[in-house]
Amino acid sequence: MKVQFNDLFNQYLLNKKNYDDAIFSVIQEGAFIGGKFASKFEREYEKHYGIKNCIGVGNGTDAIYIVLKMLGIKEGDEVITTAHSWISTSEAISQVGATPVFVDVDQYFTIDVAQIESKITQKTKAIIPVHLYGQPADIEEIMRISKLYNLFVIEDCAQAHYSEINNKRVGTFGNAATFSFYPGKNLGAYGDAGAIITNDDELAKKCRMYANHGALKKHQHAIEGINSRLDGIQAAILSEKLNFIDQWTDERINIAKIYTDNLSDCEFVQTPLVRKNCKHVYHLYVILAKKRDQLKEFLENKGIECAIHYPKALPLLEAYNYVKSVNSEYRNASNNQEMILSLPIYPEMDKIMVKYVSDSIIEFYKLDESK
Ligand SMILES: Cc1ncc(COP(=O)(O)O)c(C=O)c1O
Repeated sequence: MKVQFNDLFNQYLLNKKNYDDAIFSVIQEGAFIGGKFASKFEREYEKHYGIKNCIGVGNGTDAIYIVLKMLGIKEGDEVITTAHSWISTSEAISQVGATPVFVDVDQYFTIDVAQIESKITQKTKAIIPVHLYGQPADIEEIMRISKLYNLFVIEDCAQAHYSEINNKRVGTFGNAATFSFYPGKNLGAYGDAGAIITNDDELAKKCRMYANHGALKKHQHAIEGINSRLDGIQAAILSEKLNFIDQWTDERINIAKIYTDNLSDCEFVQTPLVRKNCKHVYHLYVILAKKRDQLKEFLENKGIECAIHYPKALPLLEAYNYVKSVNSEYRNASNNQEMILSLPIYPEMDKIMVKYVSDSIIEFYKLDESK
């Protein structure tokens, strides 16, 4: 059986007419960059999040960069973030001239809050927790620490659309939150797209201005900015997909539950642990697997696509040789990089496929034991 890691074409076919109509409308109205469809999506996203401002931008990386820049974070400053994420998180910190300070992860693959305070210095200006794989970081504790030390908090929600802690959406705790709508995300466009959300009107205004060449009105450039705008076609697709996001999230949670049930007796695999009172939205279903590389190869030979998010912890990447880092400081992140394996998960995934993947994992370890 062939099991793709994701199946965006099938998702498109299931609602083809609506997506085609959405694209047609944008072309018909010539609202390609910013404009009517971008504003419509921004207002809808604000409403869904119960937040005052949503600013559509070019992608999730720019979203982090723009917020950091508009918070005044600059050369000589330090920003604390997790050792385990996609490079965008730390890249944006370096882009504004600041230094990323990495903290190891907890058992939930998110920043270990117990280690944050030991990394705070006079230069620390902000914390960027990442709600990785769709699971909330311990954002309540992060907010407590940030208040104590007067630090900004920017929540990286690129993988955590509609994820919650104590019935409150992640992205609504910090000074601002950033989203990616990269096609494979839980809410994905048909190209690059991103957004910033915040209740801080002044910050929102600055971000909107900076993302649009420093102008809120055409040709009125108050500052020099960048070009990072949400385009109309992506916005129209996102508005259409917002109609399905709750249903899709439930389906992801359902699939995750089947995996977890099926693999619960397999002593060679650790299924994802879920933090108390959290809604994990399973952008990725990541197991810790013994003999991970052999298992991955076995599954691939059976037609099952898997992935590794991410093969190296951030501080151990060549790009961060300049940041002093000792492996033992990131014990969990560096141990995890040998064992993490992302299994296929997407709302349209057939339950027979989920069983096939789980059975194949169990089969691998049975064969391995009998060798
Ligand atoms: C945790 C995290 N942060 C930031 C980003 C950046 O988003 P984008 O690819 O839209 O720039 C991603 C996207 O992969 C991500 O997974």
